[in-house]
Amino acid sequence: MTAFFCIFNLLMTRKILVTSALPYANGSIHLGHLVEYIQTDIWVRFQKMQGNEVHYVCADDTHGTPIMLRAEKEGITPEALIARVHGEHSADFRDFLVEFDNYYSTNSEENRELASTIYKALKANGKIATRTIEQYYDPVKNMFLPDRFIKGECPKCHAKDQYGDSCEVCGATYSPTELINPFSAVSGATPVRKETEHYFFKLSECADFLQAWTRDGHLQAEAANKMGEWFASGLSDWDMSRDAPYFGFEIPDAPGKYFYVWLDAPIGYMASFKNLCAKNGLDFDEYWKKGSTTELYHFIGKDILYFHALFWPATLENSGYRTPTNIYAHGFLTVNGEKMSKSRGTFITARSYLEQVKNPEYLRYYYAAKLNGTMEDIDLNLEDFVARVNSDLIGKYVNIASRTAGFITKRFDGKIRAAGANSVIDDMRNAAPMISECYENRDYGRALREIMSLADKANGYVAGAAPWDMAKKEGQEVNLHVVCSEALEMFRLLTLYLKPVLPHLAASVEAFLNTPPLHWAHTAQPLVDGHAINVYQHLATRIDPKQIEAMVEANKESLQPTPQAHSEQRHAAHQQNEAKADVAAAEKDWEPFISIDDFARVDLRIARIANAEHVEGAEKLLKLTLDIGEDKPRQVFAGIKSAYDPATLVGRLTVMVANLAPRKMKFGLSEGMVLAASDERGGPYILSPDVGAQPGMRVK
Ligand code: MSP
Ligand code: ZN
Repeated sequence: MTAFFCIFNLLMTRKILVTSALPYANGSIHLGHLVEYIQTDIWVRFQKMQGNEVHYVCADDTHGTPIMLRAEKEGITPEALIARVHGEHSADFRDFLVEFDNYYSTNSEENRELASTIYKALKANGKIATRTIEQYYDPVKNMFLPDRFIKGECPKCHAKDQYGDSCEVCGATYSPTELINPFSAVSGATPVRKETEHYFFKLSECADFLQAWTRDGHLQAEAANKMGEWFASGLSDWDMSRDAPYFGFEIPDAPGKYFYVWLDAPIGYMASFKNLCAKNGLDFDEYWKKGSTTELYHFIGKDILYFHALFWPATLENSGYRTPTNIYAHGFLTVNGEKMSKSRGTFITARSYLEQVKNPEYLRYYYAAKLNGTMEDIDLNLEDFVARVNSDLIGKYVNIASRTAGFITKRFDGKIRAAGANSVIDDMRNAAPMISECYENRDYGRALREIMSLADKANGYVAGAAPWDMAKKEGQEVNLHVVCSEALEMFRLLTLYLKPVLPHLAASVEAFLNTPPLHWAHTAQPLVDGHAINVYQHLATRIDPKQIEAMVEANKESLQPTPQAHSEQRHAAHQQNEAKADVAAAEKDWEPFISIDDFARVDLRIARIANAEHVEGAEKLLKLTLDIGEDKPRQVFAGIKSAYDPATLVGRLTVMVANLAPRKMKFGLSEGMVLAASDERGGPYILSPDVGAQPGMRVK
């Protein structure tokens, strides 16, 4: 029987290679990224619990202009930058219990070789063309400028300071050559147009293959629809080369030309796996060769579907490799119903979550509860997060063990009494196929709803039997023993079902119940008569809403940081692109200027100086009372004493920042800031508006 089971099992074992998108090596992991890594990790853990052979690989995406410039700005080599970030990313994933079988880098020898082999194969298949294109060139930096690094006036609505590929004001998309008065976002210089030869992948010739592939069940329905739109508007050839200077791989037969980061990034999936093969003696070809019978899944965000559903399968198909079994795209994270935002403190890094909330499994649980296998966005509502985790995990799940385990230990020597027929346990066991189907389909939300409704039944059973009453009565020993044993069997099953989501908690329960690591097959192997458990120890603590407040506070960026902090934050803001939705995604992370939106957040107002006076004990400050047309005048301390006699200021108009966070100073509260000019030539000179301006007018 056992032998038969094993053989049967071997035959049924699926061989699965799973990837998550490779995060860029120039920014921190944030809660948005984690949607994907947690989603994938749960799926992988579930598959491993099923007894399948699963390999989960990922890597840092290390190439491209933004990373090159970022390193330059930090005064280090790109290699040093990506090594540091690799350490940070690895630690973040480890601490969120995202268990890769290999976490590698696209800047590896394996990747260089594979990229080069694939390129040569594409070329041999007639899929590469060269074309001379005209591109903007920065004559100061001596480099060609990616679209995102050119700014200028929108050709449609004339908004100033727009990116070279699209206008953030009117939404128009265009080519950078259409921008009015373009300038380089790297040096500020006026770019010149210059000819250069580029290498193109002839995607247009792959249309038939891709249309057939799309219809072949490799994509979610929504993704297939999106592809339909792309086919309708026609596939253009893909520019897959960049000119030096570029941090990446030089194209083998084209000195000075480099593979565009998006060419070698997905090949990084293969390279990471190849590296794993060398370590673990796996057969690379078994997973990648054309005709492979193993399964290959890519988990990605919907923003990078274009690369994964078009370029990637076309590249593989035309270079002798297998294509993915499926691409699983998820939606974007919102926090409290809105896009993650630095000013609201909802652009939360993985690290700051760990510092404040600590337990990574709470976020895993919440994301799982929200994920359903579609491309819909998912919302992290912070209040709901606290309520949900506390009520489901502590109130429903952990409660079952904490109310019953003590009796087994104290009254029955820690030994289980085998459960007889129990309809709740039967229901739980019978739910296994349905729960596993939900996990398989990435409908974790439904899986958890099912599991929590089973937990409700278990709690109903315990409450109905009331072991705490039995314990006080004579002659109820056997009943007490049975009820508590059955409750723990229920707890064991719930733990098994939750294990892909809560692997650490499950490990603590395995230690407490004294069982080997739970696998799916263990649904049918209950705790047996006489089985000894260990003493129950506290399993989980409620989240205190204060921890959430602290986390949001820690991620808040004030409007008026110190000049140095400001430039650092500006920098950080762009490493971690808050919004990205298109093919230019790779080039988006560098921005030495502030956007019009950043500027619009500063509320500048015309103010009338209603009063000005000296401040006792202050060397540099004057106390100003400013009328900005509000009911209550503002009190502002300004460092202008050296230049002004307060009496001459009264009645004057000036300009103030009205939404600066109030600051408590030694002499009182300062509710804003007046604008003044100064440098080594003199000052401060406070600003005055032209005649006609009125207090309270907005300065734009
Ligand atoms: N480097 C590319 C991927 C190359 S794959 C061969 C990239 N990197 S990324 O760091 O910007 O994003 C990594 C993954 O995280 C992507 O799948 C992306 O969709 C996902 N997410 C990044 N921000 C996200 C949210 N705010 N919400 C959900 N997922 C998000 O793209
Ligand atoms: Zn516009």
